[in-house]
Amino acid sequence: MADYYNTGLGIFKRLIKASAKVVSLAVFAVQLRARDLIWTLINLVARNRPAGGVIPPGYPGHGGDWPKYIAPNLESDTRSPCPGLNNLANHGILPRNGKHLTYRQMAHTIQHAYNLSPTLAERLTAAAKQIDQGRGWIDLHDLNALNVIQHDASFTRHDIAFCPDQSSPDRDLVERLLAHASNGHSLSLADIAYYSGLRRAESKHSNGEYSLAHSFRHKYFGSGNGALISAVFGGDVKDLRVWLGEERFPAGWEPKNREALGYTIVQSQASTLLIEFSIDEEQQLRRGDELSSPAKLHE
Ligand code: HEM
Repeated sequence: MADYYNTGLGIFKRLIKASAKVVSLAVFAVQLRARDLIWTLINLVARNRPAGGVIPPGYPGHGGDWPKYIAPNLESDTRSPCPGLNNLANHGILPRNGKHLTYRQMAHTIQHAYNLSPTLAERLTAAAKQIDQGRGWIDLHDLNALNVIQHDASFTRHDIAFCPDQSSPDRDLVERLLAHASNGHSLSLADIAYYSGLRRAESKHSNGEYSLAHSFRHKYFGSGNGALISAVFGGDVKDLRVWLGEERFPAGWEPKNREALGYTIVQSQASTLLIEFSIDEEQQLRRGDELSSPAKLHE
């Protein structure tokens, strides 16, 4: 026979826990947005960081001087579907084994290496809290989990249905993305939107487990990554070939975005929405393009 008292108590406890979570999330979101708005307004009037000094003295990458790149040993090191974090681990700015990364550590390193506002760094990092099971840290490999942050139709990885290990880029996909720079040397927001539309259409076509179709949230993450490529790299094909394809910082590279307080959530959201609402999965394909599948691409 059911113990009504204990069941009732269980329901009550879970309701309290869920309400506390909702309230703390709301407080986090509101204070983050308020701080971000202030940062964005200050950026409008403050002088940009000087070229050659975007990364402050004392931080890795200052003056384009990056710590040594060492390719990961995938037997013992862990890597993720995120080039932003893998690059930092490959240069030893995050632990080279990619393990036990705390939020403070990730937020601090991405803020300085990519000149992001502390608010955007916090927001990107907070997304990982969905997978940490309350431990307070993650291994890079944990970010492979499908449809938490990682999603189908990525720029540089085949869908998880074809490629269960998302920790390294597919060089053919990287080259294919870069070949879509209409002016030959930098990807514009329109190029990124076009290529996202192409990737979504072909994933839908070839992947029976395709799961992006009904998740605006994950589409938004994808377009957010496009916005980062555009802001932090200016879409530069030569730099992106190294950063995306080899997951290393090009020698002498520094972020293209030079805002005094870093690239903010407001700025990133504006570009993300611009990309997302320009994507048309039924678009007319550019000459030479076709919907492909992993097997076909590697023929
Ligand atoms: C702690 C902060 C971060 C977390 C938790 C994170 C997580 C992720 C995850 C899970 C993906 C896979 C999405 C997919 O399936 O395509 C991803 C992709 C990506 N991330 Fe990050 N990321 C972070 C910071 C950054 C930063 C700072 C940058 C760049 C400056 C960046 C650039 C990218 C790009 C360009 C992709 C797309 C890769 C592709 O589509 O193949 N990320 N990130």
